[in-house]
Amino acid sequence: MSDHLVKAYSSLPVNFTHGDGCYLWDSEGKQYLDALCGISVTSLGHNLPELTTAIQQQASTLLHTSNLYSITWQQKLADLLCDSAGMDRVFFANSGAEANEAAIKLARLYGHQRGIDNPQIVVMQHAFHGRTMATLSATGNRKVQAGFEPLVAGFVRAPYNDIEAVSSIAANNRQVVAVLVEPVQGEAGIVIPDADYLQKLREICDQNHWLLMLDEVQTGMGRSGKLFAHQHAGIQPDVMTLAKALGNGVPIGACICRGAAAEVFSPGKHGSTFGGNPLACRAAYTVLDYMIKNNIANNAADRGEQLSTALQQGLANNIQVASIRHMGLLLAVEMKQPCAQLVNLALEQGLLINVTADNVVRLLPPLIISEAQTADLAQRLIDCINQFSE
Ligand SMILES: Cc1ncc(COP(=O)(O)O)c(C=O)c1O
Repeated sequence: MSDHLVKAYSSLPVNFTHGDGCYLWDSEGKQYLDALCGISVTSLGHNLPELTTAIQQQASTLLHTSNLYSITWQQKLADLLCDSAGMDRVFFANSGAEANEAAIKLARLYGHQRGIDNPQIVVMQHAFHGRTMATLSATGNRKVQAGFEPLVAGFVRAPYNDIEAVSSIAANNRQVVAVLVEPVQGEAGIVIPDADYLQKLREICDQNHWLLMLDEVQTGMGRSGKLFAHQHAGIQPDVMTLAKALGNGVPIGACICRGAAAEVFSPGKHGSTFGGNPLACRAAYTVLDYMIKNNIANNAADRGEQLSTALQQGLANNIQVASIRHMGLLLAVEMKQPCAQLVNLALEQGLLINVTADNVVRLLPPLIISEAQTADLAQRLIDCINQFSE
């Protein structure tokens, strides 16, 4: 362990040396079933041959030029993203927080262009949008914000899944220009709103000329059982942010916009040295193309059902389990008590999981997981949770 790393993380003492598909191996040679994917990143599993080849070819051709020049892979990726999402234009960044920063800047600029001097963005309680100053200010979690005051102004907060609260903001605040919301709250513990929540938000945004901005950093790229989670609601956002699984481990973020929102930025208003470089864009193009051609979102939907059913059955008699909920392969087992120790218990048994919001086991397995591997994952987790509850 090096003493020269900033103490920003409390990492577990396990070090992975390589991976293949749904499995990782540590430096002792022990195999793990990866039900977390580096927090929803390696959705196509580890070491996907098509992606490895694309990265190798690009690395031996061209890594980086600059946004001062046109970049073919950036254009190809933007076309594929817009075609598959029904959107118009993309700004490429390097992470989820940066994609959301772009969305926040876009909303403010949109407001100023419409004569609103003090543009406000509606954000939700318990939301998570990132760790930069603007995105942590938009985040609805005091733990993330504490110690970093003064926060960035310009956010108005509403409870999640509460349409009345947003309507009442609309009635009372003429400075609002946008809503920024996760289709499912991930870090908050896989909180799934009512089926018509996004549709109702869409209506309020339309009535008030607000932008509907969806943070799909965790829910996008097939995770929810559709390519983008908002497709379950049959609506179109004005802005959608992606990152995490977009590059399957190669850092890339995207702020994707439509209609009026797509015409807001002009040269000089935003930028990034690395954003949209040939390596990241070729990797993300390969990932998205693979997901579409192989119907990966359908597998996420089917395996999500299988996993949820198996866990409901296997944990039916465990009185410590409060609820099991899922959308595709975004799955939560909420316990009645804090359960952080479950991470270590599972690790010992060769299973990688995460606990969020103190008492929620979060599963984000690879979207390529097979039926047999899903059954294995369910059984291992049932054993761990039953052992934990004894
Ligand atoms: C919904 C959501 N938005 C934004 C982020 C921030 O992404 P990044 O860590 O890539 O900055 C995350 C990360 O967990 C997230 O879940």
